[in-house]
Amino acid sequence: MSDKGIFITGTSTGVGKTHTAVVLAKSLTSHGVKVIPRKPVESGCDFENDQLIPADATALKHAASYEGLLSDVCPYRFRQCTSPRRAAFLAQQVLTTQQLADVCRTGADQGFLLVEGAGGFYSPLSEDGLNSDLARELGLPVLLVAQDVLGAINQVLLSAEAIKNNGLELRAVILNQVKGYDMPDSVSNLEELHPLLDCAVYTQPHSDNIGDNDMPADLIDLLTK
Ligand SMILES: Nc1ncnc2c1ncn2[C@@H]1O[C@H](COP(=O)(O)OP(=O)(O)O)[C@@H](O)[C@H]1O
Ligand SMILES: [Mg+2]
Repeated sequence: MSDKGIFITGTSTGVGKTHTAVVLAKSLTSHGVKVIPRKPVESGCDFENDQLIPADATALKHAASYEGLLSDVCPYRFRQCTSPRRAAFLAQQVLTTQQLADVCRTGADQGFLLVEGAGGFYSPLSEDGLNSDLARELGLPVLLVAQDVLGAINQVLLSAEAIKNNGLELRAVILNQVKGYDMPDSVSNLEELHPLLDCAVYTQPHSDNIGDNDMPADLIDLLTK
């Protein structure tokens, strides 16, 4: 598998994987990199005109100015807001890691493959696998997103260990400020994590206007090297 790409995972759901993926896709695209976005399975989709609409995949497609179909980005969509594995089960469908990997691989040689998982690294994704299994199957370096709150150090270190134990490279960690509030001055996850990890750690500011958020150039270089 090509190493021209990244697998975006998180310490949990709602920590900013899609936000980060959008910032990254926009930054790469503005630097002339062709981005191939993939969110192979998405649960919690709303119905519009009798069709399930995957919000994350739609945001990724838009951010990457991707000319392919939304169904290339995300062919497997489920209504229930639960893990993709359970959502598929409730919809009486069976999804395998292989099917999800095929979605990611198709067209991946056309550019930089940007894959967003669902939930956290060990969240169930398919009938026979977790996010970690898809990441392993793809063999891409991993970008870990965590919410920059008290408690993040533990979550990041556990996820980092899991990524390493799966034989994958943790390329960088993003401490994402999901909410607008400030943490107490005494808390600095960035400072504390720095000596505990052997990869780069960045903070990503809260921003109500996602267009304002350009990814730092050195992080872009690191993710595309
Ligand atoms: N840095 C940020 N600034 C502003 N809003 C953010 C930021 N990161 C995440 N959000 C918001 O928080 C919510 C959850 O983020 P999202 O990227 O969807 O998480 P995930 O993909 O991990 O489930 C979304 O409404 C998103 O717009
Ligand atoms: Mg998401």
